[in-house]
Amino acid sequence: MLKIKKQKTEAVKRKRKKLTPIQAVKGMRDILPPEQFIWDYVLENSKKLCHNFGFGRIETPILEYTELFHRGVGQITDIVEKEMFSFETQGKDAVSLRPEGTAGIARAYVENGMSKWSQPVKLYYEGPMFRYENPQAGRYRQFHQFGFEIFGDECPAIDAQIIYLAWKIFQKIGIKNTIIQLNSIGCGECRPAYKKLLTDYYEMKIHKLCPDCKRRLSDNPLRLLDCKEEKCAQVSSGVPQIIDHLCEACHDHFKNVLEFLDELEISYVLNSSLVRGLDYYTKTVFEIWEVGKEGSQSSLGGGGRYDDLVGILGGETVPAVGFSFGVERAVERLLQGGLHLDQKIEREVFLVQLGNMARKKILSLFNNLIDARISVGESLGRGSIKSQLRMANRFNSKLALIIGQKEALDGTIIIRDMESGMQEVITMESVIAEVKKRLKG
Ligand code: HAM
Repeated sequence: MLKIKKQKTEAVKRKRKKLTPIQAVKGMRDILPPEQFIWDYVLENSKKLCHNFGFGRIETPILEYTELFHRGVGQITDIVEKEMFSFETQGKDAVSLRPEGTAGIARAYVENGMSKWSQPVKLYYEGPMFRYENPQAGRYRQFHQFGFEIFGDECPAIDAQIIYLAWKIFQKIGIKNTIIQLNSIGCGECRPAYKKLLTDYYEMKIHKLCPDCKRRLSDNPLRLLDCKEEKCAQVSSGVPQIIDHLCEACHDHFKNVLEFLDELEISYVLNSSLVRGLDYYTKTVFEIWEVGKEGSQSSLGGGGRYDDLVGILGGETVPAVGFSFGVERAVERLLQGGLHLDQKIEREVFLVQLGNMARKKILSLFNNLIDARISVGESLGRGSIKSQLRMANRFNSKLALIIGQKEALDGTIIIRDMESGMQEVITMESVIAEVKKRLKG
């Protein structure tokens, strides 16, 4: 008896003491229902375009062995050096939350024997990625990418097609003010000699470089080209241009990519300092920037050719090219451009009730309307008819179905045309057919 009383008092005490609310992990955020409409809009349009271009959907695990990113993305990259969420499993496996999608998809290509499929293999994907970055606008620790990759075709026309599709997605969703930044970073043939040139150049000015660049100079001098530190950018302004040091094959490839893009009539800017932050690229690299935001770090998306990656991951050498964009960044641009959160929340029919008996009727009518594929809204908690009709207007409903005590007893319902305000009493049995008829009309 005493024990029960004690337990009760402690429960009351616990109830009284307000606990500190738990927040989402730093750099990670909730995507709430109103925003989901814009997410759906972006993803549905992107998927539709990918389907039209012959891509099939792939999903790979969020968790991969850490070695995949060490080998694929590269040891001397920001992503691998500083940004991975890596840990050891209970079985002592070193794993990481994927910081990007391409390495996992190339792994899946090898593991699932896709080189035996009819080539090229065209895959698209979407999902969360994780990078331990400093959170700020457009930069999160959990973010989402939509991307697409083509394996098994080395033709420069494929690079142009990927670039075109990337550009087209932004056009389609209404981010039209974009510019393609384009460069070639050569291949295993020509890049070593260019890297040597770069190293010689930067070594002469090493005292002017930031600590990161000094450290990277010997292992990955290409990364110095896009360092955002002011003093490093100044040093880089006089650097030898890679375009002038491409081997014949890379030079021809790039020339052809440009010609195909000209044919497609999309404008681009040649950007010799664009090297991308991942080591797997060969030949073409590109990013899509918003006009007016050039030079900022927040590109909408990026991609390029990566002919060596499948080989690096243990497959036979297979040429490949791809692109991905940050969904948060696209959604944010659309919101900044005035796309309103509730713009797309619509219900064809709104159910209005007055009193408990009416509420009971509404519950099953709601289900019947949904079964008949009619989008329906309700507000079971609200009292006044006026406030419920206001909600119907907000949802842009064409019809309101109103039940009070009398209608609930009679087995009738009032159907109201929200535009004209005309009302009519109909029987409960005829309601679905009547609604369908009026919605069609
Ligand atoms: P990436 O440039 O590292 O490339 O990322 C692509 C896009 O993801 C960026 O342009 C940006 O929109 C978005 N993004 C990256 N980090 C963040 C972040 N912390 N917060 C929000 N958005 C972010 C890749 O990941 C390559 N896998 C692209 C690719 C596909 N290359 C060939 N195929």
